[in-house]
Amino acid sequence: MADTLFDLAVGILKENDRGSYTVPTAGLYPFQWNWDSCLTALGQAHFDEARAWTEIETLFAHQWDDGMVPHIVFHQLDDGYFPGPDVWATGRKVPTSGITQPPVAGFAVRRLFDRAKDKASARTRAAALLPKIAKWHDWFYRCRDPEGSGLVAILHPWESGRDNSVDWDAAFQRVPTEGVEPFTRRDTQHANPEHRPTQAQYERYIWLVQLFRGLGWDNEKLHAASPFKIVDPGFNAILLRSSADLADLAEALGEAETARAARAQAARGLDAMEGLWNDRLGQYVCFDRAAGTQVESPSVGGLLAAFATIPAPRAAALGRRIAALGERATYLVPSHDPDAPEYDGKRYWRGPVWLIVNYMIADGLRRAGETAAADRIVADSLRLIHEGGFAEYYDPVSGEPCGGGRFTWTAAMVLEFLAQG
Ligand code: DGY
Repeated sequence: MADTLFDLAVGILKENDRGSYTVPTAGLYPFQWNWDSCLTALGQAHFDEARAWTEIETLFAHQWDDGMVPHIVFHQLDDGYFPGPDVWATGRKVPTSGITQPPVAGFAVRRLFDRAKDKASARTRAAALLPKIAKWHDWFYRCRDPEGSGLVAILHPWESGRDNSVDWDAAFQRVPTEGVEPFTRRDTQHANPEHRPTQAQYERYIWLVQLFRGLGWDNEKLHAASPFKIVDPGFNAILLRSSADLADLAEALGEAETARAARAQAARGLDAMEGLWNDRLGQYVCFDRAAGTQVESPSVGGLLAAFATIPAPRAAALGRRIAALGERATYLVPSHDPDAPEYDGKRYWRGPVWLIVNYMIADGLRRAGETAAADRIVADSLRLIHEGGFAEYYDPVSGEPCGGGRFTWTAAMVLEFLAQG
């Protein structure tokens, strides 16, 4: 059976391959997405190492001069997606969006490098990516942590990747909808509208895009101007893990100064993560920087903190929290606590299980010695695939496949899980 799953996963990655980048799924997402590509490369490396490096190199070829790596690169015209290049209007030769996404590249590149069979090529390619990733991380600390707290804020839900998480509901009350230009959504033509964000959420997504566009996408201004400013533990854990991995990679490549700077960023951020711990929920939670309060929302963002090197007692507590969730969900890890009133098992990030998040949580828990929780997450992930195919996400109780089908990063994560077993 494992061989069959392997072949099916490879088939999906090849089908969605557009030569130098891979689309997340045909139709719903017809361009290159930032964190999708970095995680996809890990899957590609199982059958074509050279192609895996290209995936990340293509993304970084579109890095902005200020260091930001955009969340979408619009390599070719496709009016099947909204919001397209005309809405973003970032003025790039190859159009891109104007916001970023979880910075998983440092982690992915280190993993590609460590596992490479072609060591010489990996050294050259990693050495070329290293300063670009360091520049992206520096951008984060300069533009998204102007007061030097050690943790960075997202300014748009799409940056977190967890577009319609319950975590943003309270902050979204402060995002108006007046002045939003009329638009037609395309996502609901490709996927079941019941599985997607609501119209009210889309209006606020676009209001924020218009605000930033009006500021000329000047990243020195956006943080101060945005009414939506959230410190997400999952997002920061990805950045901190990537910083630590970048430091190790830099050391291996003899780049001592890059290693020192990345290590300092990781150390400072890990200290600051403690401020996101919530005793009542027994997990990390978001901090609403615009309101100055924690967001008491039991979402998977706080569990994803396990991906960074958090203190052992915290990792153990997350292991317990995940075990408790496992008694209420058939499949780990639900993106929102099934007991919470806002939980919706089919609606994108308000309940469903996502394999990429499972992968990162399991990886972190395993490193922390929380083996039982990690094993259960991997087993549940593979069970979902056997029963429901390679979907975008899954209902954590029924296992129903939701969102887009034949999904690239789901296939990539399957290849990673199979290689572990
Ligand atoms: C979408 O269009 O749903 C994406 O998640 C935004 O990046």
